[in-house]
Amino acid sequence: MSRAIPLFIGVLVAALGGACGSAPVPSARVPVPSARSSESGCASCHAEIAGEWRASFHRTAFSDSTFQASLALEEPKDRAFCTNCHAPTRVASEGVACVSCHAEPHRRNPASVATASCAPCHEFTFEGRTELVQKTVLEHRASAFAGTACVACHMPQRAGHRDHRFVAGHQPAALREAVHVSASRAGNAVQVAIRVDAGHDFPTGDMFRRARLLVFAEREDGQIVADAERVFGRTWGAIAQGPGAGARTQLSDTRIRGTWQATIPLEADTPVARVRYTLLYERLVAASGDHVSVRSSDTLVEGEAR
Ligand code: HEC
Ligand code: HEC
Ligand code: HEC
Ligand code: HEC
Ligand code: HEC
Repeated sequence: MSRAIPLFIGVLVAALGGACGSAPVPSARVPVPSARSSESGCASCHAEIAGEWRASFHRTAFSDSTFQASLALEEPKDRAFCTNCHAPTRVASEGVACVSCHAEPHRRNPASVATASCAPCHEFTFEGRTELVQKTVLEHRASAFAGTACVACHMPQRAGHRDHRFVAGHQPAALREAVHVSASRAGNAVQVAIRVDAGHDFPTGDMFRRARLLVFAEREDGQIVADAERVFGRTWGAIAQGPGAGARTQLSDTRIRGTWQATIPLEADTPVARVRYTLLYERLVAASGDHVSVRSSDTLVEGEAR
């Protein structure tokens, strides 16, 4: 950025009588950008925000290989449905661009883009049907955090503006802060309690996400003598008959809404020395039909039940 521009912004913001970030709507005095491209039209003045957005999954929503692989499975005529959300401006390298969220920058109050602006993309139905694919907004409304806006968690204040990196599930460190597991032994069983401080079900969003709890009973020498597994996610299958037969539909939903607890039996025929547990966060890929395989797996929590 040249030196003249920050000066210009400084004078302008002073004239409006506000500090950056909490400044009033810049009104007609900030020109309405003519270029709609995030890189050429916005980044020159909003360099820091542009830097964060470049590091976000919004920018790569269209270009990333996972999306491309899944797009390739669609009939060409159906692909616009996907692109409308993953690259609304049709600039492939910009994915969800600045103007995808700020349709009319410098013209309206920034607050008007908050929670309501996430909804059209983060909650939607299968094309031409009423069944929801993603339902993060409904889940949010049913959660203990219904009164906390999406941006309060996903766009915390950073250096005087809202963080545009949209930190979430792709950062295991952020996930670990939100997920709490406790486990205790009770005879031939283990009692597990999980609490997730997310503003919606866990995992939320995409169809092909799940969390998996593994529990192992070990002998003194470390040999595993019993194990158990609990899966938190949605499963999908085909509509059996009638209208839409063959189309994908949700079969089950075992995700965690706030808290989950259970007593898990571990029947071993030798004395158990230790019980260990692991909670994994997994991204899946849909292969043919209803079969899925694990694409990536992050260990969120590991421990020993006492
Ligand atoms: C996924 C949606 C989304 C994208 C993409 C996005 N923004 Fe934002 N932006 C928001 C939201 C939400 C706010 C906060 C509004 C509020 O404070 O209520 C915001 C706030 C801002 C603000 C006000 C200052 C602040 O951060 O509080 C500026 C300036 C801004 N965005 C510029 C940009 C630019 C430039 C880009 C592209 C490089 C961009 N935004 C991309 C959603 C988005
Ligand atoms: C010539 C410099 C300049 C350009 C180019 C520019 N902005 Fe801004 N923008 C400003 C200034 C100055 C402010 C007021 C101070 C602040 O909030 O950072 C502002 C404020 C904003 C705000 C918060 C207030 C509002 O109107 O919602 C958003 C959002 C925003 N800009 C988005 C964009 C987007 C998106 C682009 C590209 C399409 C863009 N800006 C291009 C200078 C610019
Ligand atoms: C134009 C559509 C669109 C809008 C508007 C939008 N998003 Fe997104 N968002 C997406 C898409 C598409 C992805 C998936 C990107 C990927 O993983 O490839 C995504 C990903 C995310 C992620 C996941 C980041 C990660 O680490 O995986 C979060 C969190 C998120 N959005 C929050 C928000 C919030 C909060 C808002 C409202 C302020 C919002 N989004 C507005 C389309 C949108
Ligand atoms: C109380 C804080 C909080 C609120 C409010 C909140 N989230 Fe989240 N969000 C999280 C946490 C923590 C995670 C990671 C755990 C998970 O995937 O559920 C997450 C994950 C996500 C993801 C998945 C990212 C990924 O990598 O798969 C998306 C998308 C998302 N949130 C969107 C939203 C939207 C849209 C809203 C508002 C309707 C919202 N969130 C409200 C905390 C919050
Ligand atoms: C209405 C908006 C919308 C439509 C339409 C849409 N998606 Fe998405 N998609 C999203 C959002 C939002 C996310 C991010 C949720 C999350 O992170 O859990 C996402 C995530 C994904 C992901 C996971 C990316 C990752 O990094 O894990 C894939 C793959 C994907 N979409 C493919 C598609 C395909 C293929 C289509 C068309 C059949 C499609 N999407 C239609 C909004 C949409």
